[in-house]
Amino acid sequence: MNMCGKGDAPVEEQEQASQAKPQDQGERDESQEAARPRHAVPKPGSVPWDEDPETAMSLMLSRHAVRSFTDEPIDQQTREALQREVRRGNEAGRLHMCLAWDEPEAFDSRLAHYGNFSGVHNYLVIAGPADKGLEARAGYFGERVVLLAQQLGLNSCWVAMSYKRRLVRASLPKGDRLVIVVALGHGTTEGKMHPCKSVPQVSKPAINVPAWFTRGVEAALLAPTAMNQQGFWITLTGRRDLQSRDIVQIQPGGGPCAKIDAGIARLHFELGAGEKNFAWQDNLL
Ligand SMILES: Cc1cc2nc3c(=O)[nH]c(=O)nc-3n(C[C@H](O)[C@H](O)[C@H](O)COP(=O)(O)O)c2cc1C
Repeated sequence: MNMCGKGDAPVEEQEQASQAKPQDQGERDESQEAARPRHAVPKPGSVPWDEDPETAMSLMLSRHAVRSFTDEPIDQQTREALQREVRRGNEAGRLHMCLAWDEPEAFDSRLAHYGNFSGVHNYLVIAGPADKGLEARAGYFGERVVLLAQQLGLNSCWVAMSYKRRLVRASLPKGDRLVIVVALGHGTTEGKMHPCKSVPQVSKPAINVPAWFTRGVEAALLAPTAMNQQGFWITLTGRRDLQSRDIVQIQPGGGPCAKIDAGIARLHFELGAGEKNFAWQDNLL
């Protein structure tokens, strides 16, 4: 069992711990192994899809919520790649995310069972010092880890309920607010595409918009949202910044997870639209 540690540098501590601990390779199911798409593990310091819109789009298209996981362990190389992205997200987003490996307790409850979760042994904890933008940053940087997990052949599900909050909270540094967790692992299925609102239902204006704006909104509609509400609202404001870039605004809808959802959708919009094509009205950081 490897829970998130207390202290200021939980990720680094975890990296050292996971490097020191030999992984249980177990018996692998060859047929399952062959059926799974495997991707090259990204080099340290790079998440290649930042500059590669096609890969980003294919990851957003192939990611679906998966709540049931096999016993197949997550290999060491994959763990380290995810740890690096967590560390990057923590630095860039003023967060205290950490990865819990081989920890079945948090999802070992009737609540998790009723929520259709099974076999959850690994999860991302997203927490940080409580401030105004914490939830949006949690969504944005958490989804980067989720998309990287997808690229590395793992499945995932964001989870606001259905886990032992008190147990996870006990592992956090004092003063941190627990925002949410994401279950990670080798899914028993790849999940399926969620029902989607239309572009005009979540954005304006509806006509005479540049192609990159439509692509961004379409990518945002692929984002996971709590209860698939897709409550965010994206506006091409008609204004430009000093570099003549169009200014785009994203606003959360209602509900307890709305700001997290908007943070996730914000990342998807950027990946779909291309960051060079526009500027956000509000800073995330
Ligand atoms: C912020 C957030 C909270 C979520 N909380 C839960 C949850 O508590 N339980 C659950 O089963 N799914 C949860 N989900 C998963 C959503 O139900 C799922 O993402 C949504 O139905 C869209 O499906 P997709 O992820 O396959 O695209 C959550 C998703 C998000 C983004």
